[in-house]
Amino acid sequence: MTSNLNFKRHRRLRTSSSMRSIVRENHLRKEDLIYPFFVIEGEGIRNEVSSMPGVSQLSLDNIVDEMKEVHMLGIPSVIVFGVPDAKDEVGTGAYVNDGIVQQAIRLIKEEVPELLVIADTCLCEFTSHGHCGVIHDGDVDNDESLELLAKTAVSQVEAGADIIAPSNMMDGFVIAIRTALDEAGFTSIPIMSYAVKYSSAFYGPFREAADSTPQFGDRKSYQMDPANRLEAIREAESDIEEGADFLIVKPALSYLDIVRDIKDNFNAPVVAYNVSGEYAMVKAAAMNGWIDEKSLVMEKLTSMKRAGADLIITYFAKDVARWLSE
Ligand code: PBG
Repeated sequence: MTSNLNFKRHRRLRTSSSMRSIVRENHLRKEDLIYPFFVIEGEGIRNEVSSMPGVSQLSLDNIVDEMKEVHMLGIPSVIVFGVPDAKDEVGTGAYVNDGIVQQAIRLIKEEVPELLVIADTCLCEFTSHGHCGVIHDGDVDNDESLELLAKTAVSQVEAGADIIAPSNMMDGFVIAIRTALDEAGFTSIPIMSYAVKYSSAFYGPFREAADSTPQFGDRKSYQMDPANRLEAIREAESDIEEGADFLIVKPALSYLDIVRDIKDNFNAPVVAYNVSGEYAMVKAAAMNGWIDEKSLVMEKLTSMKRAGADLIITYFAKDVARWLSE
């Protein structure tokens, strides 16, 4: 019996896989993926991070094969985090010429030169106290930290970094880094700013992977309050004025409204950071057989694209690149 009621038949566009494919609005591409990895000092090391199954801290001798694999899978870019042996009050390891990150960048640019290397520019992995800047009277000193960040960025570009991604949430970090890079002659190196970075419980597993848990207090005086939306616009606005070329929103999944806000308000590529806690939750559920990992990961990354993300930093990048080729 055909209904003579007057209603719209939306199901017409869902009748087959081919039909669905021609009306699909958003697509996940390999080019959208940025693969994060952790390089640790030492030799022959491949330490799986217990809260991030499938993600390991790798020593220099193990990263070339990893990077070749990433490149062969069609992923154009990686973001590097360092796990140094020695830490001090002022995060010296972040900006020395032969720091672990600088060594890794040089090696990758030598062995897999086509791969774009994004350097996360922060001090927290290198400071003994685990904060993202230098401490004065129990608090992170904004302006003094800027100088060290600028030094870090210049040393990373000297090593061969293609893009600088400052993540420490000091005010003025974009202009401080832009100025330092320009003065050093690196006018064509873009800045991918962690413009909108919330103070989030979703970073827990990363702090294990990067050994960067603050030894006292928390990051709430520099990272944003998860309750705020307009503040995200203010943060992005100043970063664009200061010269940011890309805007990162982090974390991704609980912040897709913010991804949309940033996409609608600014004409810069938007990057969603699918962070460690988001990865760990999926892995834990998948390992228990409670969800279908592949479908769930593809769904959530596609939802980031739908929200307005142009690029996605994700620990799932290699899996996704494989699934996209199937
Ligand atoms: C460093 C930094 C952090 C992350 C990326 N860069 C940790 C933090 O701010 O504590 C988190 C990434 C993740 O959770 O995957 N400042």
